[in-house]
Amino acid sequence: MPLTGPDWNPPLKTLFTVLLTMLGCVVAAAAGGVAYAYSGLYDVSATTPDSALFSWIVHKTSDSSVGARLGVIQVPAGLDQPQKIAAGGHLFLQNCAVCHGGPGLTPTNIYLGMNPQPPDLYRAGRVPASDENFQFIKYGIKMSGMPGFSTTKTDDEIWSLVAFLGTAPGLSAADFAKETGSSVTVGK
Ligand code: HEC
Repeated sequence: MPLTGPDWNPPLKTLFTVLLTMLGCVVAAAAGGVAYAYSGLYDVSATTPDSALFSWIVHKTSDSSVGARLGVIQVPAGLDQPQKIAAGGHLFLQNCAVCHGGPGLTPTNIYLGMNPQPPDLYRAGRVPASDENFQFIKYGIKMSGMPGFSTTKTDDEIWSLVAFLGTAPGLSAADFAKETGSSVTVGK
């Protein structure tokens, strides 16, 4: 009997068996997931490195989620104005440097103990996309430690942080101190 075309008419019993088997697999997978959650087998300790597979799944999910939300963000003009950049620099020192650090700052114990570790926003060659930075700062990233600032900062303040981050890649310790108002200019 051909498996496709108008002649294919498997008995109802076979169809039921296929459907029940599929349903059984779904139930078994769900039960397995719940059992795993109760088992304690997964080590949530921040000090235990993530497996490559887990890391890939989490980062892929995060990248896709952020990417899917950029369409509605309108980047305002004027992000290159020195006073906007300086306003963002001061906000950065107060709200972000504790985790993300900065040129000339000694990494904090908080940075050193976090998993995932906060990315270096100053690495030369990083291309900071303004809409992406706005999304990250305003809404944060669940279960990573990156806070969302939508309830504590206005959009204008968040855009000034974006303006500052636009100048971050390759920033010298002296310029970091100037833009943020930090008095620490020596290296680690
Ligand atoms: C409590 C620690 C913490 C604080 C405070 C914090 N962040 Fe983060 N941030 C993180 C972590 C951790 C990540 C990485 C998240 C991930 O890997 O998914 C991150 C990611 C980011 C990213 C995405 C960068 C990239 O290349 O992936 C940006 C942009 C960012 N933070 C900006 C800021 C700004 C601006 C502030 C202050 C307003 C701030 N963060 C405050 C921990 C922090």
